[in-house]
Amino acid sequence: MDRKTHWEQVYSTRKPHEVGWYQAYPEIPLHLIASTGITKNEAIIDVGGGASNLVDALLENGYRDVTVLDLSAAALEATQARLGATASQVKWLVADVTCFTPPQPYQVWHDRAVFHFLTDASDRQRYLEAARAALPPGGHLIMATFALDGPPQCSGLDVVRYSPESLRQEVGDGFALAESFGGLHITPSQGKQSYTFCRFIRKK
Ligand SMILES: C[S@@+](CC[C@H](N)C(=O)[O-])C[C@H]1O[C@@H](n2cnc3c(N)ncnc32)[C@H](O)[C@@H]1O
Repeated sequence: MDRKTHWEQVYSTRKPHEVGWYQAYPEIPLHLIASTGITKNEAIIDVGGGASNLVDALLENGYRDVTVLDLSAAALEATQARLGATASQVKWLVADVTCFTPPQPYQVWHDRAVFHFLTDASDRQRYLEAARAALPPGGHLIMATFALDGPPQCSGLDVVRYSPESLRQEVGDGFALAESFGGLHITPSQGKQSYTFCRFIRKK
């Protein structure tokens, strides 16, 4: 099954709060985005945002230029339905991040649990090309992946697990690591998943 079919099936058969990566309140993503110090008018893209309620929280916090990109149209439709009329304040992109040409610059690229699905080096390379094209110098690349002691799979798909150091090496010389830490995600079925969180800054 190709990845688009996989993710469309996930979001067509499960409610947003039933998936393992569901979080009621995106506390760590919000903390990392606040750490960037961007103004409320600067652009943020949530890559592979799915049905996450990060977009709701960003709008509630006053961010005015928010884009959500996902491979799954069903995921974005679920998010749009939840937001109701507010959905019109957001830019929506159904796209595969590994063949994505950013339509505008972003000051923050946020990815929670997307990059770790890229098990092919060529896909990771194309993802990072898109991130470099999207982020001007000083822009922030925020990534959350499963940690080295996290699960080897997510949503039934193999993942690559990272430490802050291995993620720094993967992201490459175009970015400087600004902060990193580990954290536990508790799934809706009370499982524990160990994550690595990193914030990188695009170098000149
Ligand atoms: C584990 S979920 C995480 C969703 C969201 N970031 C969150 O924290 O709730 C992974 C998401 O990445 C999306 N995705 C997977 N591969 C992708 C790709 N190549 N391009 C864009 N989105 C992708 C999936 O559709 C799914 O919504």
